Amino acid sequence: MDYYRLCKKYIHGKRMLVMIVLLVSVCCLIIFKSTREYKTLTLSHVTRKIFNGENIRTNTEVKRNKDVLIFGYMRGGTTLVADFYRNSPGVFFVFEPLMPYAYYHYFTNTSRCFMRHTQCVNVNRTQIVEVITTLTSLYSCNIHKLPSLVIDEILKQNKSSPAWFNFGKCLNDSKAASADNKKCFHQINQVCRKADIRVTKVLRLAFTHMDFLLMQSPDLHVIYLLRDPRAILNSRILTDWFPVSENDTPTVISNVDSLCKKMKSDHLSFKYLQKKYNERIQLMWIDRVTESEGTMMNLFYNYRKSYTMQTKDREFLDFVFDRKRNKWLFGDWHKTLKTNYTVYIIKKCSQFIPGSEAYHKNFQMSWN
Ligand SMILES: *[C@@H]1O[C@H](CO)[C@@H](O)[C@H](O)[C@H]1NC(C)=O
Ligand SMILES: *[C@@H]1O[C@H](CO)[C@@H](O)[C@H](O)[C@H]1NC(C)=O
Ligand SMILES: *[C@@H]1O[C@H](CO)[C@@H](O)[C@H](O)[C@H]1NC(C)=O
Ligand SMILES: *[C@@H]1O[C@H](CO)[C@@H](O)[C@H](O)[C@H]1NC(C)=O
Ligand SMILES: *[C@@H]1O[C@H](CO)[C@@H](O)[C@H](O)[C@H]1NC(C)=O
Repeated sequence: MDYYRLCKKYIHGKRMLVMIVLLVSVCCLIIFKSTREYKTLTLSHVTRKIFNGENIRTNTEVKRNKDVLIFGYMRGGTTLVADFYRNSPGVFFVFEPLMPYAYYHYFTNTSRCFMRHTQCVNVNRTQIVEVITTLTSLYSCNIHKLPSLVIDEILKQNKSSPAWFNFGKCLNDSKAASADNKKCFHQINQVCRKADIRVTKVLRLAFTHMDFLLMQSPDLHVIYLLRDPRAILNSRILTDWFPVSENDTPTVISNVDSLCKKMKSDHLSFKYLQKKYNERIQLMWIDRVTESEGTMMNLFYNYRKSYTMQTKDREFLDFVFDRKRNKWLFGDWHKTLKTNYTVYIIKKCSQFIPGSEAYHKNFQMSWN
């Protein structure tokens, strides 16, 4: 009898337990679903096609910070856009962290390709993984996980946000006591974590890699920065350190071939990935960004919650917007680039020539 009652009680208890577990699961599911919906709702509300128009941050209720990866081409205006962020308060900025892996190269999924001619060589997958991991470590603020060659180059360049300069000082001071390095890494990791947004500029990857990065870092957004290839070539020719010479036609031709090849494949990946990630990828033409102060200001507002422009930022905008400096920064390729080079570029990548018919078809919009 006693035994029977005990059993009944036990079974009853078990049933209750099952009921409770079931109820909790259902509740969890409902909550999870609604937060997910909330997330997608807010995200699609925030970012409209802002960069094509003049409208500055339309929805102020949405407060979500967004990390930024500036993707572009050598002499393609990425430094200028990076300068918008570099010294801006609350930004943890890292200048070209992939530079030490490949100066005039970029990585596809399987190879390392030259930026100045069209050849590629196969590389060990481990190296590509290391390159990508460098970026994920940065965006997750695990600076201590970066390979020392990356850290050394960032410190040497001194083009990243001031936190890096302080980090370099900290390392120098603690050289004698290497145990102190831990403290320096802790400090910079903290600055990175507390920053409103983390920004890097990356030229040395094929766009297809953005897939993995966007998947890995849910707060990451990519600015795909394009520039008229004629202006890029002109700027490369006028830049002392860039090894291309106007009078050495083969170097010019191979530069154009490689640039056009990369632009085409990047843009294909972009179109594919934009369907998957929507507003997390923004295509911008640098020529357009500098045309209007409103568009430039979007760069400050679009990715940062409740940000008020600082004097420093204001001064920089004025500097860029000043027409004389604008000319100096961008050069006027119409005046300096040889006609047969422009003809060659138009032949090679007409879909990136603003105003052309191929451009119109490629981007499904007109330039003006
Ligand atoms: C790739 O490189 C790593 C070390 O750099 C090495 O251990 C590995 O064997 C290499 N793999 C191939 C397929 O060569
Ligand atoms: C490096 O950058 C810091 C600011 O981030 C600046 O104070 C310092 O003068 C720079 N050093 C050199 C050598 O340019
Ligand atoms: C750290 O020391 C190196 C070499 O001694 C020097 O070149 C560099 O400027 C120092 N960095 C800082 C931030 O003081
Ligand atoms: C490269 O790899 C990514 C995954 O990391 C994949 O999504 C993409 O389709 C690959 N791209 C190409 C061109 O094979
Ligand atoms: C452009 O013209 C120069 C002479 O002015 C010539 O040497 C060169 O081969 C031409 N390049 C092309 C791509 O036609």
